[in-house]
Amino acid sequence: MKSKLAVLISGNGSNLQAIIDAVAAGSLDARIAVVVSNRKAAYGLERARRAHVPDRYFPLKPYRDAQRSRAEYDAELAALVNGYTPDWVVLAGWMHILSEAFLGRFPNRVVNLHPALPGQFPGAHAIDDALAAFARGEVEQTGVMVHLVPDARVDEGPVLAEQAVPIRAGDTHETLAERIHAVEHRLLVETLQKLVG
Ligand code: GRF
Repeated sequence: MKSKLAVLISGNGSNLQAIIDAVAAGSLDARIAVVVSNRKAAYGLERARRAHVPDRYFPLKPYRDAQRSRAEYDAELAALVNGYTPDWVVLAGWMHILSEAFLGRFPNRVVNLHPALPGQFPGAHAIDDALAAFARGEVEQTGVMVHLVPDARVDEGPVLAEQAVPIRAGDTHETLAERIHAVEHRLLVETLQKLVG
């Protein structure tokens, strides 16, 4: 039986696309059981539909509007994902921090992708933070990491793979992001293949 992946996204989904393409090409021996997005406009949902992968939209806002807790959202998200019985949950640009209410359902089975090296630039602005540190002369490189998510600490946990990405004079957010994404697409797929292989 092929390993089943649940892929959680919030946006463009270029890393989801890399997974879809690797599965189609046979270089990733897995199947995508479901793609979940917290944003309706996430282009990744369109990518899932085109690839005939089940997709679910699961926003936080109705929970907030009904004064329901974040733990309730996380628990019901976990139940939704668990319904697809994934072997691995892949956070590929998922922009919410997951609490124990979610992570406790998938111990050592949640994998996150982050556009910086371990301990370097945690959080949602890693690429801009790297550019700012470069401008101050503090770093010459940033990178990409794939890691397990054991708890709600942001962008921390056992590192499965990492690769440095150079920053060049004259880089803009766009040029650096493009260089980082190219590395992400390969590193994420290679790491998932190691996990499922
Ligand atoms: C990636 O840079 C990932 O590392 C970060 O969010 C971005 C998602 O990009 N967590 P995409 O939606 O896969 O194109």
